[in-house]
Amino acid sequence: MKKKASLLVSFFIVGIAVLGFQGTAFTGGGMPGPSADALWSYISQTHDYTDWPFYPGYEGMYPGKSPHGAHLKLYANEVAYEAAKNGQPMPDGAILVKENYGKDKQTLKAITTMYKVDGYNADAGDWHWAKLGPNGEAMAAGKVASCIGCHKQMGGGDYVVTEAK
Ligand code: HEC
Repeated sequence: MKKKASLLVSFFIVGIAVLGFQGTAFTGGGMPGPSADALWSYISQTHDYTDWPFYPGYEGMYPGKSPHGAHLKLYANEVAYEAAKNGQPMPDGAILVKENYGKDKQTLKAITTMYKVDGYNADAGDWHWAKLGPNGEAMAAGKVASCIGCHKQMGGGDYVVTEAK
């Protein structure tokens, strides 16, 4: 009797877990954790960044500055786009994805991202930074001092250098 009851309870728990998992799959899932791999699968598979709007005022390709690519494309997810457009601070969950191209405008050299995660790094605007190769391989990621240092100098308070138009 006892065994049967605990078996029922286990089925119940497994059932809930399966339903819960499907639920997140159906709603598109939660946000990724602050890691280059989780972010890459989110922006390349479940929420393809190339379907996102361009950062306001930067449609298509535009010339970049050192140390990033000679030519750039800058994408923003919905919350980042809305905030930039309305001149508001970037909220939790904001993601900026920048494709950095070479001088030929065709060779994708690197993808650089900024992803705001509440409580991740309160000392530096809670941004998770990543530099990825053209196929998503992480070259630098996390609380990267060089990204933070330069963006702090140039980034008007919240580390975002590019001003929305
Ligand atoms: C020496 C200065 C410098 C360093 C180091 C640097 N950046 Fe930037 N970054 C800039 C400048 C200037 C811009 C705006 C012009 C451009 O995009 O080229 C920018 C733009 C960006 C943008 C577009 C949003 C914005 O802030 O304008 C992202 C995303 C980005 N950088 C990510 C990174 C990451 C990730 C790193 C570290 C791996 C990094 N950056 C290191 C200077 C720097």
